[in-house]
Amino acid sequence: SQMGRAFKYVILGGGVAAGYAALEFVRRRGDATAGELCIISEEAVAPYERPALSKGYLLPEGGARLPAFHTCVGANDQLLTEDWYNEHGIELMLQTKVVSADVRGKTLLTSSGEVISYTTLIVATGARVLKLEEYGGNGSDAENVCYLRNIVDADKLVRAMRSCPGGNAIVIGGGYIGMECAAALVANKIKVTIVFPGKHCMGRLFTQKIAEFYENYYTSKGVTFIKRTAVSSLEISSGKVTTAILIDGRCLPADMVVVGIGARANTALFEGQLAMDKGGIRVNGQMLASDASVYAVGDVATFPVKLFGGEARRFEHVDCARRTARHAVAAALEPSGATGDIDYLPFFYSRVFALSWRFYGDNAGEAVHFGDLGFSAASSSPKFGAFWVNKGRVAGAFLEGGSPEEYEAIAHTVRRGAAVPDVAQLAREGLAFVLRE
Ligand code: FDA
Repeated sequence: SQMGRAFKYVILGGGVAAGYAALEFVRRRGDATAGELCIISEEAVAPYERPALSKGYLLPEGGARLPAFHTCVGANDQLLTEDWYNEHGIELMLQTKVVSADVRGKTLLTSSGEVISYTTLIVATGARVLKLEEYGGNGSDAENVCYLRNIVDADKLVRAMRSCPGGNAIVIGGGYIGMECAAALVANKIKVTIVFPGKHCMGRLFTQKIAEFYENYYTSKGVTFIKRTAVSSLEISSGKVTTAILIDGRCLPADMVVVGIGARANTALFEGQLAMDKGGIRVNGQMLASDASVYAVGDVATFPVKLFGGEARRFEHVDCARRTARHAVAAALEPSGATGDIDYLPFFYSRVFALSWRFYGDNAGEAVHFGDLGFSAASSSPKFGAFWVNKGRVAGAFLEGGSPEEYEAIAHTVRRGAAVPDVAQLAREGLAFVLRE
């Protein structure tokens, strides 16, 4: 028979959700006993706050480094180093990739040939980056072509930046990764050109007006936008990119390239074994998958959002990973159903340069802007935002430059779906609408 070990609970994946799940486990249950809880991660380090990789990690000086940003410091909670897992009886299997899963047999096979069996599995495999090659492009293997998903990627990006001070970077993609990396590149004194096919940056969330503010801000920092087109290929010489070629034939000199063209949830191990939905593993309000021994959390989970009438959604955002992980652990430790269904308020944020915004809810319906959206180089602390009004109620809210109280107020307004009798009045009142509630 094959070599193997058995655990009551196995968390597959060692990212944000895994770290928060482990802390929740210990809080509810105390230290794990032998054979009780195991975390299997392909990464070489204990779970960490992934958002730091596109922010603090890329600072030109004094950048954030492990162990400072292991989970759960992102939620102002305990810092869980590798030792913490050992001290609490949790088996942390690092640098271990699971290559196949047998849901009926309740086993996982690792890259080292070990069979791990479980009673209850929590899938927290997150997402992987999409590669240029998947869109007919090339160059991903080059020394100075960078993606950003994990520490190894971040170290490669830092090396590439350090090797071309004052040089040219081409950023492919105008989403979170593209925009945050562009800001980091500027801070590292590298000239940035962002190329993406959409009309404006952050196309899935921002309105044209909101995007214009940020694009103007970036432009004032020396960033060039090339929109409504794409990079068709990269010219590689001696293993390094030298030029990015656009589909219209334009050639852009490149000392490095950063690619942020999206992600896919890591569901492959469970295709054909668990029900899938919207690119993720379909779970119920307890984060339980179509097999009663399997939970899914974080980027990989598609779950019903009460606030959206129970509609199934999947979020690739850190707050969702933290909350779904805690919820799944609560449910798994109390499978009688005593844990109610998750009631999640979607929350996204980003920080670039001196800017910082938060978004709550759903960007569905009509966008009603407020505050001063016109970019002015003179204004050091811009404050503006938008409400999305759907069927007469506030469905979503965006705010740049808010105070903690203001963010709490917009979150509350979205959470309760405040009625909007008069859209024009809401536009006039702006933040006053939520603050007087
Ligand atoms: P996560 O990706 O964190 O962890 C998955 C883990 O599973 C990894 O350790 C992986 O190696 C492991 N794994 C996968 N398959 C495996 C296998 N077969 N065997 C073993 N291990 C396996 N969100 C936000 O709200 N605000 C922000 O500012 C940012 N910023 C940000 C920056 C960057 C650079 C990234 C990449 C992402 C963000 N995010 C974000 C998104 C946020 O980080 C993301 O939603 C969470 O990390 C999701 O947590 P999970 O635990 O689901 O996946």
